[in-house]
Amino acid sequence: MGTTQLADLRGPPDETGRAARMKAVVQDCYGAAPEDVLRIAQVEKPAVGDGEVLVRVHAASVDRGTWHIMSGLPYPIRLAGFGLRSPKSANPGRNLAGTVEAAGSGVTGFAPGDEVFGMAAGTFAQYAVARTGKLAAKPPSLSFEQAAAVPVSGVTALQAVRDHGRVQAGEKVLVVGASGGVGSFALQIAKASGAQVTAVCSARKVDMVRALGADHVIDYTRGDFAEGGRRYDVILDIGGNARLSRLRRALSARGRLIIVGGETDGRLLGGSDRQIRAKLLSLFVRQRLGTFVAKENAADLIALGELADDGKLTPAIDRTYQLTEVAAAIRHLLDGTARGKLVVSVHTPATGGTP
Ligand SMILES: NC(=O)c1ccc[n+]([C@@H]2O[C@H](COP(=O)([O-])OP(=O)(O)OC[C@H]3O[C@@H](n4cnc5c(N)ncnc54)[C@H](OP(=O)(O)O)[C@@H]3O)[C@@H](O)[C@H]2O)c1
Repeated sequence: MGTTQLADLRGPPDETGRAARMKAVVQDCYGAAPEDVLRIAQVEKPAVGDGEVLVRVHAASVDRGTWHIMSGLPYPIRLAGFGLRSPKSANPGRNLAGTVEAAGSGVTGFAPGDEVFGMAAGTFAQYAVARTGKLAAKPPSLSFEQAAAVPVSGVTALQAVRDHGRVQAGEKVLVVGASGGVGSFALQIAKASGAQVTAVCSARKVDMVRALGADHVIDYTRGDFAEGGRRYDVILDIGGNARLSRLRRALSARGRLIIVGGETDGRLLGGSDRQIRAKLLSLFVRQRLGTFVAKENAADLIALGELADDGKLTPAIDRTYQLTEVAAAIRHLLDGTARGKLVVSVHTPATGGTP
């Protein structure tokens, strides 16, 4: 996504004198390399519909789902409404924090000027339209950049710990992939629930997960969480695609294994075969082996905001990119060196200026 493409992106003013167009990331076709498929363009500002609000985006963020939506991989994602041959939405961003610019008819609880964060389509843009059911007031303790890091990863982590792992105070919890987007939230939420948390990550991220509150850390390049006889009440399996037999060996006799994700090169199943096998096996063993797809909702955003305001949750942000650098941000995520979240800064709220 070269800066030369930004040469003249100022659109014609509308009848109110304001620009009716905006800068946004655009993709015309699926592709695995972000720098090949993403470009910056001048597009029409989205129109707000019933039950929706138009948000002036101050910050967005990148997660694994961004890449899946951008690449159309694994293929089943195309059947889930994202477009069979080419992406339905021309912009793969789906997390935002910003200010409400306009509210559609029937909207209650949000008004122009409100500071919000949440999930929406097309958030790598100066403006995005969000449904109120996926939006909440921005926690006062978080900056726009921090709030933009939370939605998809934070909601997934909360549901993994609270709803599926049902983590209780005093339980031993293993978080495999604790240094990533979902894991950095899951570790903190499990700690906030009073659990004793062991984090698994690579060597260069050990300090980071310690700083987030892990009681014990296993560097997977030097040690194996399944060796040494340790048993956990709950295992949150977020990265690394460990074999089910290894995960079960580290799980207590009636423990709960929650498979959140794990990347593979598989274009057809993308690692979901492991999740299907876990669910089937769970019918025959005393351990509970499960998986889930996170449900995007406002109540969980509010719960995460409360944890942040209580000082129990701090988004771990590795780096903030500009809107023109979304491809570089996704490349950073893919190279595996990101510590926690990668954020995209769009508007600067103090000046209202454009990037
Ligand atoms: N179920 C759902 O609804 C849902 C929702 C959101 C995301 N997900 C999935 O969850 C997964 C994680 O997403 P994310 O955004 O957190 O990705 P991410 O930020 O890239 O994090 C990946 C994590 O996996 C760890 N990892 C890589 N290789 C490992 C290994 N061999 N052993 C242990 N850990 C290893 C990484 O640790 P190091 O960096 O230290 O190597 C990192 O902590 C993805 O597959 C995503 O698609 C599922």
